[in-house]
Amino acid sequence: MNQRLTSQFVRFSFSLLFSLGLSASGFGQADTSSKAVSAAPAASTAAAPAAGSGDPAAGEGIFKANCKSCHAIGEQVIGPALKDAHKRWPSKAAMANFIKYPQKTIDGGNAYAKGLYDKYKQYMPNHDFLQPADIDNVIAYIVRESENPTAAAPVAGANAAVAGSSTSEDDSSGLLAPVIGILLMTLVVVIILLVVVINLVSKILGNKQEELNEDDLDQIEGKIDWSVLFNHPLFKGVVAFVFVVIIGKTVFDQVYAVGIQQGYAPDQPIAFSHKLHAGMYEIDCNYCHTGVNRGKSATIPAANTCLNCHNVIKTESPEIKKIWRAVEKNQPIKWVRIHNLPDLAYFNHAQHVKVGGIECQKCHGPVQEMEVVQQFSPLTMGWCINCHRETVVKSGGNAYYDKMVEIHQTKYGTGKMKVEDIGGLECSKCHY
Ligand code: HEC
Ligand code: HEC
Ligand code: HEC
Ligand code: HEC
Ligand code: HEC
Ligand code: HEC
Repeated sequence: MNQRLTSQFVRFSFSLLFSLGLSASGFGQADTSSKAVSAAPAASTAAAPAAGSGDPAAGEGIFKANCKSCHAIGEQVIGPALKDAHKRWPSKAAMANFIKYPQKTIDGGNAYAKGLYDKYKQYMPNHDFLQPADIDNVIAYIVRESENPTAAAPVAGANAAVAGSSTSEDDSSGLLAPVIGILLMTLVVVIILLVVVINLVSKILGNKQEELNEDDLDQIEGKIDWSVLFNHPLFKGVVAFVFVVIIGKTVFDQVYAVGIQQGYAPDQPIAFSHKLHAGMYEIDCNYCHTGVNRGKSATIPAANTCLNCHNVIKTESPEIKKIWRAVEKNQPIKWVRIHNLPDLAYFNHAQHVKVGGIECQKCHGPVQEMEVVQQFSPLTMGWCINCHRETVVKSGGNAYYDKMVEIHQTKYGTGKMKVEDIGGLECSKCHY
């Protein structure tokens, strides 16, 4: 073996080990610091006197998964700010029951709940899929965040900072964890290999110590030559690998963002406002979304539909000129799609809007109040199924259904025929 080469390799190995050591300890740090942060709320909980029976730390997770899209503690989002909400209800049981069955409570004549509904003009979804203990925990979390802002504030601040950078991490923690795992494993394997090689090389060198001339010894004991490190193919390989992993994750996140995501509200090419058109000017949803009564897709209106009005209204506005440009170039406006079920699921608008008589808002929320449309419902299978379990089929005036209701009544002795009773839970109805 060429001695010069070997000694260079030893130097390279040392420098690589050194830099790997650095990055590995970097990982270690990131790890412990994130642990420290996630442990912090738990610690502060233990210090704070537990409110009621619930566990606020557990409640925090439930809140983030089920309530955060519509609620914050200190500010109104889609629903009211929840600070001190527990003081606005006569008892914890009443509050828990409202969270579980808001619509029943509102329609059941609870004046306070009715007042809330009048103000927010929509029903909060049922949370009957949560265990009573979960709801207790969530309430405990609301109580803690309301009553303990000082103790909670710095933690909440730290949390928010982490959440800010880690909401995407939270969403994709399932992906990030294995990626870091693979990275660490690769590093460990590389380090072990290097140690083996170094041992070998130093043995060879040790045997040949006498044969080395001054120059070689100088090189062995000499300083780390970074250019050798940076130019080495293995180093470049490791850097390229890490780079590819990071890019890969970013791309994956972007692609995932097109899928089902509650609260998704992308920027649109034209600043079209539903609040203005459907809210203030009360233009019927069907005027633009002409497919809702006819078929599967609700359809997005063509630019020509806009021109029915905008050939005279606000023609000087730069936003309206974009519509003209699209029509002149005969190119469709590239609206960014918001709602998107995976291909494996089949959903039909006419079935729900025309046959089922369900209002758009039940699934899409108060679109007429949205400046920018956002995905209101989770669009998960559980969401579809829940509604099919609860909703009574509108059978009035439909001879086919009248007959079925009759059969249903004689068979089960109840007057209410739910969607599940007409096959709304059969896999094949929703899956191709
Ligand atoms: C899709 C939006 C949405 C989600 C998700 C949601 N809420 Fe609500 N919430 C509302 C709206 C809207 C109201 C106002 C009452 C109404 O109109 O139904 C409300 C009211 C409330 C109230 C009464 C507030 C008061 O001032 O008295 C509580 C408590 C509450 N929600 C708790 C929760 C909890 C806990 C969760 C999660 C388990 C949750 N909400 C999830 C929309 C939502
Ligand atoms: C004047 C025409 C017009 C009217 C009226 C209108 N919309 Fe829209 N709607 C659009 C356009 C254009 C888009 C695509 C751009 C956007 O997302 O804002 C859209 C998008 C949407 C989306 C999101 C589609 C997606 O990408 O997933 C929903 C949901 C929706 N509208 C519901 C409604 C409802 C409910 C009403 C009635 C309350 C309504 N719209 C009234 C023109 C209209
Ligand atoms: C039924 C009539 C009607 C239709 C159809 C209609 N609009 Fe409008 N639009 C209006 C009215 C009315 C205004 C408010 C004008 C004003 O503020 O003076 C408006 C305002 C706007 C504005 C704000 C312009 C500005 O600079 O203030 C935009 C952008 C817009 N519309 C886009 C669209 C798009 C895109 C479509 C087609 C999807 C559409 N509109 C369809 C009636 C309509
Ligand atoms: C039972 C729930 C439900 C009701 C009611 C409902 N939608 Fe939808 N809507 C959905 C779902 C689910 C999607 C996603 C469909 C997909 O990706 O295939 C969607 C998608 C859309 C889209 C995006 C384009 C498309 O067709 O995929 C528009 C626009 C829309 N809805 C408008 C409306 C309007 C307007 C109404 C009322 C007339 C309405 N929706 C009623 C559940 C509903
Ligand atoms: C707001 C309540 C609600 C939601 C949410 C909802 N549905 Fe439905 N669905 C209904 C009702 C009501 C009917 C019955 C309509 C009728 O009278 O035939 C129905 C019927 C159906 C049918 C026909 C069933 C049959 O036996 O003929 C299919 C398929 C379906 N829904 C799919 C879906 C899918 C997929 C989703 C979720 C993406 C969904 N639904 C979400 C209320 C809902
Ligand atoms: C009322 C409509 C509906 C019915 C009934 C239904 N599904 Fe689904 N299913 C969906 C929708 C919508 C999705 C996509 C949204 C999601 O992934 O949650 C889905 C997703 C799935 C997925 C993919 C899950 C994932 O995480 O990607 C599987 C597997 C599945 N369904 C199996 C079934 C089986 C088995 C049945 C019968 C027992 C069934 N479904 C009945 C609507 C339905």
